[in-house]
Amino acid sequence: AKIAFIGVGKIGQTIAYSIIMDGLASEAMIYDVIPELPDKFEHELRHALATRGLNTEILSSNNIQDVNGADVVVITAGKPRKPGMSRRDLFVDNAKIMMGLAKDLVPRNPGAKYVMVTNPVDMMASVFMNYSKAFTISTGDQVETMRMRSFIAKKLKTPVTKVNGFVGGEHGEDAVVLWSTVSVDGKPFDQLGLKREEVDQYVKGIAAEIIRVMGGTTWGPATIIKDVVRSIVLNENRVMSIATPHKVDNDYIHIAVPTVVGNVIGPSIEGTLPEEEKEKLNQALRDVHRVYKENMAQLVGTT
Ligand code: NAD
Ligand code: MLT
Repeated sequence: AKIAFIGVGKIGQTIAYSIIMDGLASEAMIYDVIPELPDKFEHELRHALATRGLNTEILSSNNIQDVNGADVVVITAGKPRKPGMSRRDLFVDNAKIMMGLAKDLVPRNPGAKYVMVTNPVDMMASVFMNYSKAFTISTGDQVETMRMRSFIAKKLKTPVTKVNGFVGGEHGEDAVVLWSTVSVDGKPFDQLGLKREEVDQYVKGIAAEIIRVMGGTTWGPATIIKDVVRSIVLNENRVMSIATPHKVDNDYIHIAVPTVVGNVIGPSIEGTLPEEEKEKLNQALRDVHRVYKENMAQLVGTT
């Protein structure tokens, strides 16, 4: 597959590296606004590919017009949060970037699947899709899903492969743990001897702790996002908690629900969830829509 990477800062580089080294891209296109960054990153990747004996075609550019004909476009361009900020605080700055990218990328990459990573990730997917009409997913809560599984595995000293379950809703502090889906070796969550609060706190709080010490999250999300792209490119049809578009009034609004991810995205498993969890996801959709509308009004006011 031909895969484009829009933004190659901290997370963009890690995602591109993981995807390219896994041999998932027959061609990779690397774009960033920082002069020479794509070019020098291309050299680094070529050195890594040489030792692997991989012949992946790489094109790097500071000119967005060079990004053409991609099958998958991974967007990480934009500001990251600093300690003390919420992801939602990045809306106005990063939405401006998404509006520009929507205009520049979509005509040259028709039919591509757009994978949003930039935060606030679900709302940035909505901005990109509402402005371009191109099908866009956000990596949503697949990151929280894996954080939750890793936490439970460590707590119970059990292999992570025995831990099941998903987190849905909005990526971030308002994510919704879908407790009915959580089990270890077939045992439901309530029989595991863990407290909901400790799982919830870890899942929602660990990113800020990593940012405080390491300046940003990279290895975890990058590997998880690589697996989302892998599932699309290899048509693996894995169930992953990515955010897909839901039509609310006249807007596409993204929230995460465990969904089959392959060459085709969907269906989701929402129908199999208990009413109480469906209602929590609906509430998340309404909240995200409200915040989206408020921020768009502010954005239009500033431009
Ligand atoms: P970073 O500052 O290291 O990198 C951002 C890059 O975007 C920079 O290289 C910058 O030059 C580039 N950029 C800015 N405007 C651009 C444009 N118009 N076109 C192309 N490139 C542009 O930041 P980071 O740590 O890599 O984070 C990037 C984004 O990803 C942030 O919004 C962050 O919150 C988000 N993120 C999301 C997840 C997730 O799970 N969804 C995980 C980690 C980071
Ligand atoms: C994450 O969860 O790792 C990302 O959304 C980055 C962040 O926390 O701001």
